[in-house]
Amino acid sequence: MCAKILDGRKISKEIRNAIMNEVHHLKDHYGITPGLAVVIVGDDDASHVYVSMKEKACQKVGFHSEVYKLPKETTEKELLTLIDELNHNEKINGILVQLPLPKGIDENLINSHILPMKDVDGFHAVNAGKLLLGEESFVPCTPKGILELIKRTEEDLTGKHAVVIGRSNIVGKPAGVLLLKENATVTICHSKTKNLEKHVKMADIVVAAVGVPELIKGDMIKDGAIVIDAGTRKVNGKLVGDVAFEEASKKASWITPVPGGVGPMTITMLLENTLKAAKTQCE
Ligand code: GUN
Repeated sequence: MCAKILDGRKISKEIRNAIMNEVHHLKDHYGITPGLAVVIVGDDDASHVYVSMKEKACQKVGFHSEVYKLPKETTEKELLTLIDELNHNEKINGILVQLPLPKGIDENLINSHILPMKDVDGFHAVNAGKLLLGEESFVPCTPKGILELIKRTEEDLTGKHAVVIGRSNIVGKPAGVLLLKENATVTICHSKTKNLEKHVKMADIVVAAVGVPELIKGDMIKDGAIVIDAGTRKVNGKLVGDVAFEEASKKASWITPVPGGVGPMTITMLLENTLKAAKTQCE
């Protein structure tokens, strides 16, 4: 088997064009410009790159975009004060605090200070709880993008065995919940899982989200599996995923590349969530 590529760049472009058209319509007919505020604390290089990509993507689709770059010495109290201001700012429909935050700042406390209706990351306990209950909510961007990619295969997910590797609140856990909602049978593996290979070998769908370069080898992939790689690590200046791409491509039916698979979809889903926030706040 030679896998077909799930091209996150191409799919993102289609979705972003549709968002751009909708933004034009909202501006022309209702005077609404969706607005996103992104807050970054400290000087983690990779996080700054992601934030500038988010800012550019917002500008390109016609959103109002504000970026707050705060020094690493910023206190929890100062961050909470900024979030209060953004919660009250009528130009801002969505608020995102880039993770990770510096040591000493409680991420859950910060995320749960964002108004749930502006929580376009879907990290607030209210949105996370609603996702678990199957209620309408903001869905975290990376798992939302992962599901969008899987749906592009047009495979029926009912009864398929999905193995998610990674149990983070940002990717692994919500990805598991989303796949469960699609009637897949879900196994979540993590660093304490015994015999990871045994689990992955049984998977019709593999979602890898641990950030361990090429942890998942080709001989672990079942023939015809759908393989989604959400891992990104720099190795010798090159971005490498959690899956050994060349080997896995020989076994999988569909596979995402790194870069150009899940990454662009994450930002696209952030745009979708911000557009949704703007529309619901103006109802
Ligand atoms: N850091 C890595 N991924 C994400 C994300 O999806 N949202 C935020 N806020 N921070 C991140």
